[in-house]
Amino acid sequence: MHHVPLGVSDLAVSRICFGCWQLSPQFWGDVPLDGWRAAVRRAPDLGVNFLDTADAYGDGFAETELGRLFADPMLRDRFVLATKFYWNFDESETRFPDTRRARILRACENSLMRLRTDRIDLYQVHAWDALTRPDEVAEALIQLRREGKIRWIGVSNFNVEQLAVYRARMEVVCLQPPYSLLARDVEARELPYCLANRIGVIAYSPLFRGLLTGKHAPGTKLGDSRDEHPFFAEKALGRLQAGLAKLQPLADAEGLTLAQFAVRWVITHPALTSAIVGVKKPEHLEGIVKAAEGALSQETWHRAAKIMASAKKDAEALREQP
Ligand SMILES: NC(=O)c1ccc[n+]([C@@H]2O[C@H](COP(=O)([O-])OP(=O)(O)OC[C@H]3O[C@@H](n4cnc5c(N)ncnc54)[C@H](OP(=O)(O)O)[C@@H]3O)[C@@H](O)[C@H]2O)c1
Repeated sequence: MHHVPLGVSDLAVSRICFGCWQLSPQFWGDVPLDGWRAAVRRAPDLGVNFLDTADAYGDGFAETELGRLFADPMLRDRFVLATKFYWNFDESETRFPDTRRARILRACENSLMRLRTDRIDLYQVHAWDALTRPDEVAEALIQLRREGKIRWIGVSNFNVEQLAVYRARMEVVCLQPPYSLLARDVEARELPYCLANRIGVIAYSPLFRGLLTGKHAPGTKLGDSRDEHPFFAEKALGRLQAGLAKLQPLADAEGLTLAQFAVRWVITHPALTSAIVGVKKPEHLEGIVKAAEGALSQETWHRAAKIMASAKKDAEALREQP
């Protein structure tokens, strides 16, 4: 798979990134670990050299499981490793946002220990923390870079104003926003801003938590947090799947499955560096890598966008009904 630079950093990353949120039992239930481990081991052979995790995924669980695999340093070195900090889950029964200096320094030490590595390639602020001064965040992150514990800094779920505040204080090489055929808010401001300022963009939930694969039958309980999401409710999912049925011929014409088409749609946007796909087993990764082998035409991209915008409107209309 083709690798591309991540913003202005010296990191070269695959256009598909392996997302590790699935090892968060609170959201995804118990994912069989044998299949997940096999997927991580398989990734580099498929050309996927980019891994995204967070200290908060399973409150350390995802990082710990990756660390077990990285006991083999040869495997660790085959990845550009990205993790995140933001939630304090050490000091209280309830998680709370905490990007104060001391917490960042400790969070980084904890991540390094769990991941059994001596450096994090991309250290991301998971979300904007309204209570901590940006100067304090920057001071901690610059210190960690100077010490060689982290190589580059990224942010997630930030808007343009928040990005600008951080960028005035330190080098930020990428933004991690949600982006898919069903989540396009960042198209208006964040994507043009990143494009203009050479900030990499790594999109999360490109399949809208799997919905855009079209494989979930309306009315089926998935046994995870998706059962609470309004778009996975029976009627809404039915309306969104009517949109996917209209998308199918476009995917067929490209020789792609719906899942591959949805990911290719995301990475066709010129601001996009990579799409972060949530993976539980090797088949998820094997079934998606083809998405990175090309781009959609301008016409196909817009047709697909229009189809799913209309299906989304139909699904959202259900919420307005009494
Ligand atoms: N920064 C943030 O705040 C944030 C938030 C959310 C996610 N993320 C990151 O982004 C990653 C991806 O997001 P996500 O997990 O929400 O959603 P996603 O990638 O849109 O969807 C993942 C789901 O899609 C299905 N899937 C994946 N590959 C498939 C394939 N080849 N064929 C058929 N189905 C396939 C699986 O569903 P089934 O489980 O039903 O098989 C999988 O659980 C996360 O793992 C995480 O690293 C970051």
